[in-house]
Order: sequence, then structure tokens, then C-alpha cells
Amino acid sequence: MARTIGIFDSGVGGLTILSSIVNEMSDSVEYHYVADSLHAPYGSKSIEELLERSRRITEFLISKGSELIVVACNTATTQVISSLRAEFNIPFVGIEPAVKPAAQLSVSKRIGVIATANTLKSGLFKQTLEVYASGCKTFTRIGEGLVEAIETGELVSIELNDLVRDHVTYFNSNEIDVLVLGCTHYSFVSQLFEKYLDQGTSLVTSNEAVARRVQSVFGTLDSQSGLVRSIHIYSTSEKLLSLKKLIAAENLQVDQVLQVQI
Ligand code: DGL
Repeated sequence: MARTIGIFDSGVGGLTILSSIVNEMSDSVEYHYVADSLHAPYGSKSIEELLERSRRITEFLISKGSELIVVACNTATTQVISSLRAEFNIPFVGIEPAVKPAAQLSVSKRIGVIATANTLKSGLFKQTLEVYASGCKTFTRIGEGLVEAIETGELVSIELNDLVRDHVTYFNSNEIDVLVLGCTHYSFVSQLFEKYLDQGTSLVTSNEAVARRVQSVFGTLDSQSGLVRSIHIYSTSEKLLSLKKLIAAENLQVDQVLQVQI
């Protein structure tokens, strides 16, 4: 039987994590990815709603044979991963804004974090700032409008360009030297962020760290090596065209893209 990993996000953002995982894994693995695009964005939903969605999606991914679930969404991780861990007898790997590497990398000790409203107000995020960035002045900003724009699958548009430029202007004016992309969707437009950030300002994400963590947790699970890699993508929305565009943007070779009701 193939070794299986389940991954989910509020939508297309977690595809950026999926491709980091696929590049990192030495084993051949069967991947099942759920884009909950019908219910995106998660950034302003209540904890109860997020838990309900995450629970249902987890059950779906377990029904596909997943041995490990990757919560490829900062919002869901910061809000509900501890409840999921308590409810399901399966390992979960989550993603949180890369505050620790940003604080270490910063010379000026002025860092920025752009993420969803829910991530920024979460206890977990505040705790992470206290533990790892107490020596830094941190500027946070909600990435208003970005998730909705990226969900359309149109990465090259004047609207998206202007939106990113406006967000970046805030960080440039606060003279940060490291910016954390704290939402998986934003990685799709990292080049736009780089284009507008002042020279010398670095951009960091947690994508590679999550992929390494998945590799290490998966390696501890007691099952046989898989034979072939396969990637199955499901969306709760009927708008599969935008999803397919972003799968292509990530250069993912997928076996199927299906609409599902979860
Ligand atoms: N991609 C998600 C994250 O990393 C959620 C974005 C949203 O749906 O608001 O936070």
C-alpha cells in the first residue's frame, strides 16, 4: 500500500507547501490535497467554523488513507491544530509565520509580518513573538484582499500588483529589514513582494521548514516505502480552472483535480 500524506488549506495557498514537500521527500508518496476554496477565506472565520471545516476535511483525508495531515494554513494552525491533535489519533504538522528565522536574520531588529487577521490575533502568534522576537520591533499588517485576489488564479493583474505595492509601502516606511509572509497564499506573489520591498530587505516563509518537518515526522511512521508518487487535488469549489492555473504555476504534476463536497 502506498504511503499517504493528507494536506489542506482554506484554498490554493497550501499548494506552495505541497510543492516544497514534494521536492523535499525522498520517498514516493501518495498526496491528497484539499483546497477548501468554497469556504475561503479562513482569515476572518470564527474558531467554531474553522474547527468544523478542519474536522471534516481531516476525516476526508483519513478516508483517503492519510497517515499524516499537514495543515498548510497559518490561520487554521494557529486557531485549531491543538484541538485536531486532541481529537484525532494521527500526527499533524502545521505552519506558523517564520518569526524566529526573521528575528535571527534581522540586523536592524525591525521586522514585518503580513498575515490574516486570525493569525495575527491568535495566542500562538503572540506567544511566538514574545519568545523569539522580544528583541525586535515588530510591524504587523493584515494582508487585506490578497487571499481573495490569489484565489482567482490571476497572478498577473494590475489590481494584485497595486495591492501588494500598498502593503509593502507600509513595511518600507517602517524601515524593516526582514518581512515574513505569514499566509501560504502570499508565496504565490513573493516576486511581487520582492519587486516593491526596499533593497536589502529579505523575505522569509516557513515553507522549507515545514517540508523538512514533514520528512522527519513521516520517517518515524511505521509503514512500507511507497512505489510511485501520485498527487490528487480536491476542491470544495466548482471553480477548478483557477485551481488548475495555480497548480501549473507551482509546476506540480498532478494525477487528478476533482470537485468534492466535504
Ligand atoms: N492560506 C491561509 C493561511 O496560511 C489562509 C488564508 C485565508 O483563507 O484567509 O493563513
